[in-house]
Amino acid sequence: MHAWLCENPVGTDALTWKELPTPAPREGEVLIEIKAASLNFPDILVVQNKYQIKPALPFVPGSEYAGVVQAVGAGVSHLKVGQHVACLSGTGGFGTHTLAPAALCMPLPANFPMVDAAAFIMIYATSYHALVDRAGLKAGETVLVLGAAGGVGTAAIQIAKAMGARVIAAASTPAKCELCRSLGADATIDYSNGNLRDAIRELTAGKGPDVIYDPVGGDFAETAFRAIAWRGRYLVVGFASGPIPALPLNLTLLKGASLVGVFWGEFAKREPKANAAMMVELAQWYGQGKIKPVIDRTLPMAELKAAFARMQSREVMGKLVLTN
Ligand SMILES: NC(=O)c1ccc[n+]([C@@H]2O[C@H](COP(=O)([O-])OP(=O)(O)OC[C@H]3O[C@@H](n4cnc5c(N)ncnc54)[C@H](OP(=O)(O)O)[C@@H]3O)[C@@H](O)[C@H]2O)c1
Repeated sequence: MHAWLCENPVGTDALTWKELPTPAPREGEVLIEIKAASLNFPDILVVQNKYQIKPALPFVPGSEYAGVVQAVGAGVSHLKVGQHVACLSGTGGFGTHTLAPAALCMPLPANFPMVDAAAFIMIYATSYHALVDRAGLKAGETVLVLGAAGGVGTAAIQIAKAMGARVIAAASTPAKCELCRSLGADATIDYSNGNLRDAIRELTAGKGPDVIYDPVGGDFAETAFRAIAWRGRYLVVGFASGPIPALPLNLTLLKGASLVGVFWGEFAKREPKANAAMMVELAQWYGQGKIKPVIDRTLPMAELKAAFARMQSREVMGKLVLTN
């Protein structure tokens, strides 16, 4: 097998494509031949040693991937050789093969496209957990999605629309706003103009959004929170812009509003049954055409560094997928 190896977590430039022995699965594991792997924002942070989870060195990055089971370890009963699976195991995806805990593998029907499967779990699980479970979004409510053309952002638009909400999508370029409209966003804000506050007021007739979905953080957070509706819910999803914002707590009091933390990975660990039920529902929504990953582009696995560069320069719209 071959894989991108991180021996020194100082950034994407230090990754090397290496030949490694193909491992045999241990108890509870499966060996997967990887067909496609998608980039998630933490994949960059983890090879820079800036992510909250720090894998033991050396490791193969690549949190999320899809492929075909090649071998099954002892004690694995729900997966067989030849089964197509999607998996989000945190590492291992940027290569030709990987070992994965069988419990983290989502069996797929044979006709589920591998590229979509590799781009599915993280974005939809996070956005569904955030909007449905944490915010209790109701049909007819207005959702503002920041970073709306990114991975979790595009998923948030699709899920909010599927639930009957009105969606205002905010992003940094006209092309990104256009993509959001094509996904069903009712209105868009290009926040590169520095007009976020006025645009939110105008688009909500002064009332403000009931739910704000924020994977960006930084300067936009306080501006957006000041515009939230009475009884609004502000979803703290991530900090793609870098800085972690601080908020004057009186703002929550003034709007009777809630600041709501979202940590899908921890939810999946602590509440596995609820997470499994959510994934079943999301797979059904995919089958019904309610949700479909937006694929920015696919590149060969060998072009991982170009893929990372594209993500770091904020060019990716939806998900970038590497294929073998
Ligand atoms: N809480 C959870 O459970 C959970 C789960 C998954 C992901 N996350 C977090 O959610 C965030 C987004 O993840 P993602 O995979 O959707 O990433 P992504 O596809 O790269 O999208 C992030 C968006 O953030 C915006 N952005 C603003 N400043 C940026 C900067 N300096 N660099 C890069 N992007 C910037 C970009 O949109 P514009 O150019 O339009 O501003 C971009 O589209 C990350 O912080 C990630 O760690 C959290």
